[in-house]
Amino acid sequence: MLNNLEQQPADALLALIKLFDADPRADKIDLGVGVYRTADGGTPVFACIKAAEQKLVDEQPTKAYLGPEGDMGFVHALMPHVFGGGDPTLGGRIEGMQTPGGTGAVRLAIALAHKAGVQRVFMGTPSWPNHAQIMADCGVKLAAFDHAAADGSANLDALRNALRSAQPGDAVLLHGCCHNPTGVDYTPAQWDEIVALLLETGVLPIIDLAYQGLGLGMDEDAYGARAVVAAVPEALIAYSCDKNFGLYRDRVGALYVLTPDAEQTTRAMSNGHALARANWSMPPDHGAAAVRLALSDPALTQSWVDELTSMRNRIREVREKLAGSSAGAINLAPLAQQQGMFAMLPLSKEQIGALREDHAIYMAGSGRINIAGLTMGNIDKFVNALAAVSA
Ligand code: LMR
Repeated sequence: MLNNLEQQPADALLALIKLFDADPRADKIDLGVGVYRTADGGTPVFACIKAAEQKLVDEQPTKAYLGPEGDMGFVHALMPHVFGGGDPTLGGRIEGMQTPGGTGAVRLAIALAHKAGVQRVFMGTPSWPNHAQIMADCGVKLAAFDHAAADGSANLDALRNALRSAQPGDAVLLHGCCHNPTGVDYTPAQWDEIVALLLETGVLPIIDLAYQGLGLGMDEDAYGARAVVAAVPEALIAYSCDKNFGLYRDRVGALYVLTPDAEQTTRAMSNGHALARANWSMPPDHGAAAVRLALSDPALTQSWVDELTSMRNRIREVREKLAGSSAGAINLAPLAQQQGMFAMLPLSKEQIGALREDHAIYMAGSGRINIAGLTMGNIDKFVNALAAVSA
C-alpha cells in the first residue's frame, strides 16, 4: 500500500539550511530561511526567554496535559500587544487558542474557514510558499492576484479587483506586516481602504501576523489587523511568536477568532478545539509558557521590547545600506520603502545558482533574501556579487 506514495521533493527553503551548513567556505552568507541574525551572525535566545525558562525549571509544578486550546494564560497575555490596550477582546468577540507556531495558526485558520463553508481564498502572490501548500492540503481553492506593483509598492488595484470579483463564502489571506517574501506592506491609508473593501464585499479576512515588531514597531505593525477587527463582523488572525520572541523551533503561535458576539465566538472556538484535537491534540507547551511568564513580568516585558527594538533597528540599518548601494543591473532602491526581514530581488534561477556556486551566497529560489543575514561586514561582498552575476 505505502508503495503507492510518490517521492516528494524536500521543502526547498528548509533544504537550504542543510546545503548552507555543508558549505565549507568561511565567507559564506546565509540569506535563506527567515531567522533573525545579530551583527555577529548569531541567533541568540532572547534574554527574557532565558529568564522565563529558568523560572519554568525552578517553579513549573507539572507537565500534565492542558487541552487543545493550550496555555490560555499565554493566549490572553499576548492579546493587548496584538490588539492594543483597552479591551482587546472587544467585549468577548475575540478569543484565541494556542497553536504549534504560526504555521499551525494558519493551518487552523484555513481549516476552520473551510469547515464554515469557505471554498476559495484570495491571496496576493508571491506569498510564503507554505500558504499555498496549506490551502491545497485543506482542499481550499487559491485565487491569486499580484501583491506588488512594478514600483515596489503594494498593488491595490489588483486587490481591489480581486475582492470585487468575490462570491459569497470567499475569504482573503492578508499579511499583517513585513510581507513574506516581498517586504511590500500596505500603508495605513491602504489598510483603511482594505477595511472599506472588506465591508463592501463581505469577504472573510484571514490575517497572517508573523513578524509583529520587526517592521516599524509593535503598534505600527498591528495597524492593519487592528483596523480590520475594529470594523468587520468576522475575522481570523494567525499569530506567530517564532520570530518576535526568537522561539523558532519551540513552535509558538496563536489563532484569534472574531465574530459578531461572544456566543458565536465560543461556538467557533469549540470548532477550533475539535480541529486541533484531531490534528495535534494539543500544542507544545514550553515556548508558550515562557512567553506567558515573560509577559507577566514588567521587567522581562521591557527586556523583550528593548531586544525587539534593537533587532528592528538593525534590520532597518542593513535595509537602508542595501537600498543605497549600487549592485549593477539590480535596482536595490525600492527596498528603502519596504519593511521587515525580507526582500525579493529580480534574479534568474541561473543568477541565484551562480551566487551560491561562485560566491557562497544562499537565498531562496524565488530571489527572496533574508536581510537579517547581512552584516556591515559582508554587505559589500553581497552587493559586489550581485553586480557580478547581473553584468
Ligand atoms: C520563512 O519564510 O523563512 C520562515 O517563515 C520559515 C518557514 O517556516 O518557512
